[in-house]
Order: sequence, then structure tokens, then C-alpha cells
Amino acid sequence: MPDRYAVMGHPIAHSKSPFIHRRFATETGEPVTYDALHIEPDGFGEAVARFRSEGGCGLNVTIPFKEKAFALATRRSARAARAGAVNTLWFDGTDICGDNTDGIGLVRDLVRNLAVELRDRSVLVLGAGGAARGIVGPLLDESPRVLVIANRTPSRAMDLARCFEGQGPVRAAALDALPTQEFDVVVNATAASLAGDLPSLASGTLRAGGVAYDTAYAAPPTPFVRWGTGEGAAVSTDGLGMLVEQAAESFRLWRGREPSTGPVIDALRAHLAS
Ligand code: ATR
Repeated sequence: MPDRYAVMGHPIAHSKSPFIHRRFATETGEPVTYDALHIEPDGFGEAVARFRSEGGCGLNVTIPFKEKAFALATRRSARAARAGAVNTLWFDGTDICGDNTDGIGLVRDLVRNLAVELRDRSVLVLGAGGAARGIVGPLLDESPRVLVIANRTPSRAMDLARCFEGQGPVRAAALDALPTQEFDVVVNATAASLAGDLPSLASGTLRAGGVAYDTAYAAPPTPFVRWGTGEGAAVSTDGLGMLVEQAAESFRLWRGREPSTGPVIDALRAHLAS
């Protein structure tokens, strides 16, 4: 019998995780199955317990259950504790183990796949919700010169920056009152792309030849990716690579194997385009 894994979310129908993990399983020869499970908003704890009692080995968790997964975990990684959210669960004896691979997924896509240098660079993170919270810690680990969190509602940016005080050169700003600075890297972690919107940004926020990275992804370029291209970015990309890299880190945690991500990113891009 293969080992059973799944992603839980609401909604979940369009999740790319089964596609990605089945590819990883084929490539590595690991005997695993991976399904997408639609869970009612108030049924997450029960669904995890059922999955476990039926012999399930591990789960990915997506919107809106990442904070619930964090609360459910009896053992959490340092990454999960910093993010305040869990996207990867597995079972070990009586423990429910939780980790967060979103931030490392972003950093690996930037550093390994796109060859973007973060050390000593100025980084702007747009947004101060759950998505932003998951990526700030791993970005700070790359030793940027400064990391500014900018949000439409400035108090949320300040609260988030405070959580990372002492962990690196992190500052907060209002989206409409950004420091007059050209950033080397601008990461969009707002929910704007999901609604087909663009956070309002002054021209000159991104230095020409810099990097614009949208944590969301879509077949046609997102408004933010189009903005980056228009501002003269050397790299302006969506978060498809981050999606595959966070999945690869989950797979490694579960199976102890590091799958190749490049072919899966290419396959997914082709799949989206069709
Ligand atoms: P998530 O968990 O996906 O981050 P969230 O916690 O609801 O979701 O946070 C959404 C983020 O996107 C917030 O930072 C939000 O800004 P506010 O805190 O001011 O609401 C930001 N956001 C959503 N739509 C936006 C838009 N059109 N322009 C700028 N920021 C936007």
C-alpha cells in the first residue's frame, strides 16, 4: 500500500499540489498517493483526525486553515513559530508535527532558480497579512541591507515589523508613503492579484534592473508582474516557482528526498498556458 498524503483547503478544486506531488513521486519512485480534499470551514480538526486514523501520513494545508493547522500541531518548527502558520503536517507517534515551507519556497525560487542575490540588497515586501508573515523571516535570513514591510493599513505593517524586531533590519511603512528609495527587490504578498488588482505604487519604487516577484500566479501575467516589466525590472515573475519549491520542501520533510523542481515548474507553466 502506498503512503497517503493530501492537501486540505476551502476552496481546493484548483489546487496544483496533486499535480506537483504526483510528479515528485514519479521522479523519485517514492510510493505515495496525493489527493486534494475539500474541507468545510469548521471541519478542519475533525478532518485531520479522520485522515490520521485512516492511516494518512502527511498533509499540506492551504487557505483558510494555516492558522488552525498551527494551533493543532503539538510540535512546531522554528519556521512555523515565526510564521505563526503551518502549511505542512505529519504524524510522529502521538505528535502532530507542523512546519511552514512557504518562505523557504520563495527564497529558493529567487536565489536558486532565478539567481537573485538578496544579501545587502534592499527588499520591499508589500502586504502585512498571512502571506507576508510567512516570508519575512526566511527573507531576513538572507541578510538583506534593509527589508521594508509596506501595507495599505500601516498599523498592520508596524505590528508585523515588531514581530521580527531583533531578527534583522526590518522597517514598516505605509503603502502610500514609502521611503523615497529605489528597491532592488519588490515582493508582492498582498491579496491584490487574486482580485486582479495592483497595489498602488509610486513610479521609481523599483530600481531599473531590479526584481519584481508576485507571490500569486496566473496564466496571463498578473497586474503586478506587468507593473514590474513596465518599471524596467530585469526579472518580473509570478509565484509559480515558489509554489513548486514549497511543495518540494514538504516532500523532503515527509520522504527525506529532494525532488527536482525545474521540470515541474516548466510542466506546470505549460499546463497553465493550455
Ligand atoms: P493573506 O493571508 O493572503 O495575506 P490577509 O491576511 O487578508 O490575506 O491579507 C491580505 C493583504 O493584502 C493585506 O496586507 C491587505 O492590506 P490591508 O491590511 O490594508 O487590508 C492587502 N491587500 C489586499 N488587497 C489590496 C489592494 N488592492 N491593494 C493593496 N493591498 C491589498
